[in-house]
Amino acid sequence: MSDSLLVRGGRIVDPSQEIDAVGDVLIRDGIVSSVSLGGQKNLALHDSTILEATGLVVSPGFIDLHCHLREPGSEEKETVATGALAAVNGGFTTLCVMPNTEPPLDTAPLIQFLRRRAKEVGLARLLPIACITRGREGRRLVEMSELVEAGAVGFSDDGDPVEDPFLMRMALMYSAPLRVPIIDHCQDPSLTRGGQVHEGWVASRLGLKGMPSAGEEVMAARDIELASLTGGHIHLAHISTSGTLDLVRNARIRGVDVTAEVTPQHLFLSEEAVLGQAPMGKETDPYAPLTPFAYDTRAKVNPPLRPRQDVQALIQGLQAGAIDAIATDHAPHSLVDKACPFDQAAFGISILETGVSMLLSLVARGSLELSTMVRYLTVGPARVMGPRWDRFGTLKPGAAGDVTIFDPSEKWVVNTDDFASRGKNSPLEGQTLQGKVVATVVAGRVVYDRSGIARGPR
Ligand code: DOR
Repeated sequence: MSDSLLVRGGRIVDPSQEIDAVGDVLIRDGIVSSVSLGGQKNLALHDSTILEATGLVVSPGFIDLHCHLREPGSEEKETVATGALAAVNGGFTTLCVMPNTEPPLDTAPLIQFLRRRAKEVGLARLLPIACITRGREGRRLVEMSELVEAGAVGFSDDGDPVEDPFLMRMALMYSAPLRVPIIDHCQDPSLTRGGQVHEGWVASRLGLKGMPSAGEEVMAARDIELASLTGGHIHLAHISTSGTLDLVRNARIRGVDVTAEVTPQHLFLSEEAVLGQAPMGKETDPYAPLTPFAYDTRAKVNPPLRPRQDVQALIQGLQAGAIDAIATDHAPHSLVDKACPFDQAAFGISILETGVSMLLSLVARGSLELSTMVRYLTVGPARVMGPRWDRFGTLKPGAAGDVTIFDPSEKWVVNTDDFASRGKNSPLEGQTLQGKVVATVVAGRVVYDRSGIARGPR
């Protein structure tokens, strides 16, 4: 029996080929076989599955360069199974998972364990990122080549920066010939330690210790220089300030191998969200009385949500091509980690199931172009991972048969009870978003089909 899937009649948006037109996508044996546009029809085989996508947008499968699943170690917060289900429900076909698990991913068997778990679960593709330093302790480097051989696609101590510049220099030097990025949680701890939110008027109003923008920018500048020195590839994770964006722009002009990602939360929310005002709305009067929703720990995230000017600059940076990818930084936490005093609450937002809709809401508002959004969820992150991943994030014939199908106009209200993720920590609870993922395909297999658009053998 042939294993084929025809995605029929949707608006195909594939920035890797500059395609934005109505057509069909045929996937055979897990691989894109052809894309036909306009009137030219792709013929389904008699035993094909058909996904009827008329009126919907069809894109290469979304790649999340940065997310936190909690297996091994904190399965009460998230497992590979719940995280992968949340991912496909949210439109992601590939997840790059961060190594701040317990134990941290610093040996080949742990990398192999995660890959095996993802295969057993069989939903999204899972690509593990290994630690830069053993135990994420910032003292000794991991065995980089062994970890790449085991399947690691990058290195990061994310959650914590690498404080020692010499160690960072060595990490960049050793990773360069392996052609994998060093993914930088760029934050200078001497400037940010103990900080709870952005250092600005909201921090003052709430009496919370702030993290200045310079805390991020100082470290980004250091690591850009170390990349320049070594020829290594530095990827700046979750950049959040206009100053970091300027550093990236200038370094690229000099030819430094630097890439950067931004999260949906840093594009959609501003520092006011901890006052209980998500999403970004009207200008807030700093002297207005606090509402009962102030100190909203669900909006506590690291790096912190920044002022509106930074949010605008990041959106403009995306439009101008100064950023490479949008990555979720999905960080599921349990209720006890969030329903507590603000300074004791964990950092992070559970976002796999709202991230794409947050971005589509920006598209609906006219802040972001649809093709820009798709670019930074597909070919953008694939390029950050390097030339080995050029079969991902595209619908070129021969590419991985991964597809995300969404309706950019559907409005819906976020209810975290409906999340597949165990993390219900979202500041968007009760908010209306515009745009929703309808179906997700991994390697030609329909792994999510919310409204039953698939017909035929499955
Ligand atoms: O908010 C965050 N949460 N930022 C990080 O860097 C780590 C993450 C987590 O693991 O919870």
